[in-house]
Amino acid sequence: MIDISGVTKHFDDVHALAEINLDIGTGEFVSIVGPSGCGKSTLLRIIAGLVSTHGRVVKPDKGAFVFQDSALLPWRNVQKNIELLMELELIPKAERVEKARSALSQVGLTGFEKNYPHQLSGGMKMRLSLARSLVLNPDYLLMDEPLSAVDELTREVLQEEIYALWKKDKFTAILVTHNVPEAVYLSNRVVIMSPRPGSITHIVDIPFKNRNQKLRSSNKYHKLINDISGKLRS
Ligand SMILES: Nc1ncnc2c1ncn2[C@@H]1O[C@H](COP(=O)(O)OP(=O)(O)OP(=O)(O)O)[C@@H](O)[C@H]1O
Ligand SMILES: [Mg+2]
Repeated sequence: MIDISGVTKHFDDVHALAEINLDIGTGEFVSIVGPSGCGKSTLLRIIAGLVSTHGRVVKPDKGAFVFQDSALLPWRNVQKNIELLMELELIPKAERVEKARSALSQVGLTGFEKNYPHQLSGGMKMRLSLARSLVLNPDYLLMDEPLSAVDELTREVLQEEIYALWKKDKFTAILVTHNVPEAVYLSNRVVIMSPRPGSITHIVDIPFKNRNQKLRSSNKYHKLINDISGKLRS
């Protein structure tokens, strides 16, 4: 469970976040949508403990953050990038190698261990970044527009992969995205924010049990997308 209460943020004279209150259940998948500048990244960074705040965030110990630009180290190959966080945790070499092997196979990167980030496509970089975060079995995963740099088709494939990983590993997920269909497809709840100062205007429950291609073409899916897009515009 992640409990956000009374969280506010000022950057000098910019009132980035008004009071934010939000409870996220263990294992829940919540997406945050809202116009540019409404404070989504700031809220995510506050949850991660990377930005200070007045207010309170209660969360489990082990978390991971996936950044928009994938944040890989260009001088480390795929194998060394995926071992990075495990090295920081002083996990022994043999265990690192085994965990890396399993995580790379999960995201379809087996065989690319010796490649460097500049030799990977945008989708592959994002897979590597996801695998690197999940290899430590975090209790919660924060994702800031992880798929914004990939094409539409790759985006759907990666959504399926994120969904499968979440189903399997049962971490609590918070996803910031500009893509309303993506938020509806992946989430249990979609949080809608408005700017100046950033605040939560609506929280929409997503009732779907399963995610698949059939859902993407269903009326109930498109109705929710229209509903949320309408709320975003108002
Ligand atoms: N480190 C900082 N210093 C000063 N102002 C900041 C800082 N980080 C964010 N802001 C300001 O806070 C507000 C919210 O920014 P934030 O990056 O959280 O928005 P966002 O919703 O993530 O936008 P986008 O969708 O464009 O990524 C903006 O007005 C921004 O200029
Ligand atoms: Mg942002």
